[in-house]
Amino acid sequence: MTTYFSYPDPELQEELKKTAEAIVAPGKGILAVDEANEGIGKLLAAIGLENTETNRRRYRQLLFTSDVVLSEHISAVILFDETVYQKTDEGTLFLELLKKKNIIPGIKVDRDVVPLFCSEDEVTTQGLDDLAQRCAEYKKQGCRFAKWRCPLKISDNTPSVQAINDMAQVLARYASICQSQGLVPIVEPDVLLDGDHDIIRTQKVTEVALAALYKALNDHHVFLEGTLIKPNMVTPGQGCSKRNTPEEIAVATVTALLRGVPAAVPGIVLLSGGQSEEEATLNLNAINQVALKKPWVLTFSYGRALQASVWKIWAGKDENVAKAQQELIKRAKANGLASLGKYKAGAIESAAADKSNYSANHKY
Ligand code: 13P
Repeated sequence: MTTYFSYPDPELQEELKKTAEAIVAPGKGILAVDEANEGIGKLLAAIGLENTETNRRRYRQLLFTSDVVLSEHISAVILFDETVYQKTDEGTLFLELLKKKNIIPGIKVDRDVVPLFCSEDEVTTQGLDDLAQRCAEYKKQGCRFAKWRCPLKISDNTPSVQAINDMAQVLARYASICQSQGLVPIVEPDVLLDGDHDIIRTQKVTEVALAALYKALNDHHVFLEGTLIKPNMVTPGQGCSKRNTPEEIAVATVTALLRGVPAAVPGIVLLSGGQSEEEATLNLNAINQVALKKPWVLTFSYGRALQASVWKIWAGKDENVAKAQQELIKRAKANGLASLGKYKAGAIESAAADKSNYSANHKY
């Protein structure tokens, strides 16, 4: 077996590393608003709005025109393809607006899940074929990183070896293509909340998934200092009767990450996965307080846990925009504090703080 490989050019290494480090700057995290049109359609329907390009743009405009104070806690946003080309009512490209606010734009590049043949209801993610061209185009537009999610389901027989290996390969191939085009890859192996398994099972599955993923990233010569990872927190399944405290979740999560994520990776940007806003903040806070080694930054890349209150207060009405923006700023601040281990339970109240954001087989 030959082991020939080469590293990316030093300038490219430097660029990727700088971007990755800027995204996980102290006290900051990512706002994930990369819901595909189908996913945001459900949110729009819940407040009685049609799933039109205009309504999707109105909602994202609300987020991006929030006061610049947002950038004290939000370093980056993950966009969906359509959003990259959208503008404010005044005609400013969202991307320009974000850059002016010192928020780094990124892009979801996976094209959603498809079934794995002969598996027990497992999936993989598609979108590799034209990925290099798409990455080059997004880079030209001003994006500096990309995200790709591949979920794993826990049941008696899953995740299977097939699903784990496929997740690792597809994420490694995606990461290497991203880096070749100057985008920082955020690899997202998402062990889902669905199921009634306990926290120990989630921990072991997460460890196995991380081990497979980093083997594959190494096999594909991915430059780890120029990557980030967006994993699940280690929690019991949604249906498990034994609920764990944030401290127990923190120990299980950091232990699994220590066993699987190399110290060369600058940051771990956790997903919220259906937790309520306050739960996601408290768990992140506990993760940052736990007395274990932490060689990487541990922060957030939340979708639902940053937006549930925004949706509730906005309700599709222009007169509610300013109030809804305040909800976003409050949750960003709460999570920014949690990323430093400085959040106090209940210290920042928001409109939907305790509402569970879980839905089975959630689609972005
Ligand atoms: P949630 O925080 O809603 O799980 O979203 C994370 C995500 O992957 C969206 O990019």
